[in-house]
Amino acid sequence: PRVSVIGAGNVGRTLAQRIAEKNLADVVLLDIVNGLPQGIALDLMEAQGIELHDSEIIGTNNYEDTAGSDIVVITAGLARKPGMSRDDLMNVNAKIVVEAATKCLQYSPEAIFIVITNPLDVMTYLVWQSTGLPPQRVMGMAGVLDSSRLQTFIAMELGVSTADVHAMVLGGHGDLMLPLPRYCTVSGVPITELMDEITINRLVERTRNGGAEIVKLLQTGGAYYAPASSACIMVETILRNQSRLLPAAAYLKGEYGLQDVYLGVPCRLGCRGVESILEVRLTDAERLDLHTSAASVRQNVHLALD
Ligand code: NAI
Repeated sequence: PRVSVIGAGNVGRTLAQRIAEKNLADVVLLDIVNGLPQGIALDLMEAQGIELHDSEIIGTNNYEDTAGSDIVVITAGLARKPGMSRDDLMNVNAKIVVEAATKCLQYSPEAIFIVITNPLDVMTYLVWQSTGLPPQRVMGMAGVLDSSRLQTFIAMELGVSTADVHAMVLGGHGDLMLPLPRYCTVSGVPITELMDEITINRLVERTRNGGAEIVKLLQTGGAYYAPASSACIMVETILRNQSRLLPAAAYLKGEYGLQDVYLGVPCRLGCRGVESILEVRLTDAERLDLHTSAASVRQNVHLALD
């Protein structure tokens, strides 16, 4: 298989490395900057004999080289600087993402698209709209990352292995994301049985600010190791048709009482993309939060289209 990663910045290059070193697919790494994707691809290839994988990594500035991709992952665009919100990136990134998606589709008409560029839910909507693809084939990565952050914080708090913790975060990828502690478990035990409410709320808040916490520490950009891992598991699930249930930004057609919006929901991912969306039971308060999150995404889509 072949995966094209658009944008050879921190997230794109780390994702290319993960995909290649896990032997999942050949990777085409494309960027607008001359020499950058070529240099990174060569550097990664020079580790092939040590890491012992068979994936070819090609760096390019030319969309023709992405031809025949099974999956296209879009990471091109600006990342946040300290003090910026994801929404501040909107106008610049909208143009970049739409151009990348339409050009990729021209050379890979069968590809499944995974969007990473922020603001995530809005960019995913624009990719779906500008490509005219069936919504099943366009999704956004955020929920896996937000959930894995909450998973990490729960494991750290309880001193248990991260592998024993399962966490679920729905909603938009922003301040209005919806972590669901009721659905977080440690080896099957709900965390609501293991921690008091104050502790849980602290972990939920840290998850909501998880991206900003790293932006503040790094000063030069955002997180990329956990985002690359999160995208990689989506790529793997699709290529291997694993039917894993992962939270992803998906197009809603009435699920959760919402329509014509991209939002983070639990999806069964497989070789056709979003195979189905699961509707988990929500309390009235949670449902209201999800609708508030959807309203904000929708408003930003309108702003981006103006
Ligand atoms: P970065 O600045 O390291 O890399 C972005 C790359 O995009 C640069 O190499 C740049 O040259 C390239 N680029 C810009 N315009 C382009 C164009 N027209 N065509 C092709 N390439 C182009 O940024 P980083 O850290 O890799 O983040 C990328 C994006 O992903 C940002 O928007 C960031 O906010 C987002 N992000 C989203 C996450 C999520 O959970 N959805 C998590 C982490 C980052």
